[in-house]
Amino acid sequence: MHLNQVATQPIEGQKPGTSGLRKKTKVFMGPHYLENFVQAIFDAIGGATGKTFVLGGDGRYFSHEAAQVILRMAAANGAAKVIVGQGALLSTPAASNLIRLFRTDGGIILSASHNPGGHDEDFGVKFNTPNGGPAPEAVTEAIFARTKTIQQYGILETVDADLSGPGVQRMGDMVVEVVDPVADYAALMETLFDFGAIRELFASGFRMRFDAMNAVTGPYATEVLENRLGAPKGTVVHGAPLPDFGGMHPDPNPTWAHELIAEMMQADAPDFGAASDGDGDRNMVLGRGVYVSPSDSLAVLAANAHLAPGYAGGLKGVARSMPTSAAVDRVADAMGLPKYETPTGWKFFGNLMDADRVTLCGEESFGNGSDHVREKDGLWAVLLWLNILAVRKQSVGEIMADHWNRYGRNYYSRHDYEALDASTANVIMGDLRARLDTLPGSTVEGMRISSADDFAYTDPVDGSQATGQGLRIVFDGGSRIVLRISGTGTEGATIRLYLERYVAGPEGLGEEPQKALAPVIRAAETLTGLRERSGRSEPDVVT
Ligand code: G1P
Ligand code: ZN
Repeated sequence: MHLNQVATQPIEGQKPGTSGLRKKTKVFMGPHYLENFVQAIFDAIGGATGKTFVLGGDGRYFSHEAAQVILRMAAANGAAKVIVGQGALLSTPAASNLIRLFRTDGGIILSASHNPGGHDEDFGVKFNTPNGGPAPEAVTEAIFARTKTIQQYGILETVDADLSGPGVQRMGDMVVEVVDPVADYAALMETLFDFGAIRELFASGFRMRFDAMNAVTGPYATEVLENRLGAPKGTVVHGAPLPDFGGMHPDPNPTWAHELIAEMMQADAPDFGAASDGDGDRNMVLGRGVYVSPSDSLAVLAANAHLAPGYAGGLKGVARSMPTSAAVDRVADAMGLPKYETPTGWKFFGNLMDADRVTLCGEESFGNGSDHVREKDGLWAVLLWLNILAVRKQSVGEIMADHWNRYGRNYYSRHDYEALDASTANVIMGDLRARLDTLPGSTVEGMRISSADDFAYTDPVDGSQATGQGLRIVFDGGSRIVLRISGTGTEGATIRLYLERYVAGPEGLGEEPQKALAPVIRAAETLTGLRERSGRSEPDVVT
């Protein structure tokens, strides 16, 4: 065993995005790339000496090698202990839970979330702070700053740790504790939901299909749904995590989870369908013949959470990211709950939850969660839906219809234009940004613009500020267009166009969303020239 200080130089472009540092796997496999970033994390948090960390990820290609490097670096940096998921596996919410449960000094998650995995696809590294949540901007900025000055990193030369089964071992002076990745998470779920009621639901013949998309949620969903809740074997499909996700794009949306969509749209479909992403923090839910948009899902969960034992006392408040539809705002107003609108990315919810201002949070990008951890949580959302279905004894379709009748419907869609030439994307955004001040009062497609701005946010807890978080054009009556550049893409620039139109009802609640949004979609093209200027006749992904 030998402690090495390896000389290195700064590598350009190690700036964490919306959720950690994501790059092509081959980039991460390049000389010193992973090592520089990990050392920058340790340096930015004041060193690793005497500290305890959690380590795990979604099992994608290169995870095993990366986990061993990080363990050897943690040991060389004087860490006291690292708690690792067996096989280097941990879903993102399970990692958040372990950080909180064992009060560690943070954790490192190996994942590029919903991006495809493999030698030619994506890899990612994310640091979470002791509250269990993604590092806030101040920390990611400090990490990035360190990557620009780094001159050396520490790494122990030693044999690999054995991550094949639970147990305690040593690497140098550091303890490596390998844990079952599922057990503590499943136990937490049992404290939040009425497992008895859900067990009865399954026993009564309720049928479900959970598509784990060959990603990390497979073992979690199998243990919780099939083993603990008695759902029939085979309820979980694509349940074994694979390094390349079996070639699937592990993003639970109608485009990438098309197998599940096809199954759920059949006449004899299961009662409930759900899918999760690469690292288990996203979810999509469906009923028989019914797709539930993520923004609507958040609103329904907020309106019904009190039906689950963990939320029986009511919610403290709710938060959504700015581009997420205002459906949950209507629930908050009706229930007299405080509501917050934050920039995109889960890291902005952490302070609100730590300060006990909100219980439930969500994003339009298939993510919702609560203060049980500090990450969004795919299986948690599925279980809350199951708890609600078990208590209300209605179908998903009936629950949605009832919700829209009561609150009105926020028709919503996101159009992604992926991997655009970065300068073209910047020009499209820049031109619109420059015109924002002139837009209010003008009319497009018969709709009057009431306000237009570049979203900025001041955190109400610590006063930190975030600017440039998305161009927002609001029309009279609440219809909305939002444009922003993705902070998780790894190729060129991806423009996300978010479209929303509110219909109060009782007429017009059952339209097809793209049809209901047609005037807003036309207005977006008139205002931005996005299709014409990018040379794309249609978006790559519509959710
Ligand atoms: C995307 C989503 C965002 C989410 C993030 C991480 O980020 O839009 O809501 O928090 O992935 O899952 P984006 O690529 O838009 O920056
Ligand atoms: Zn994810």
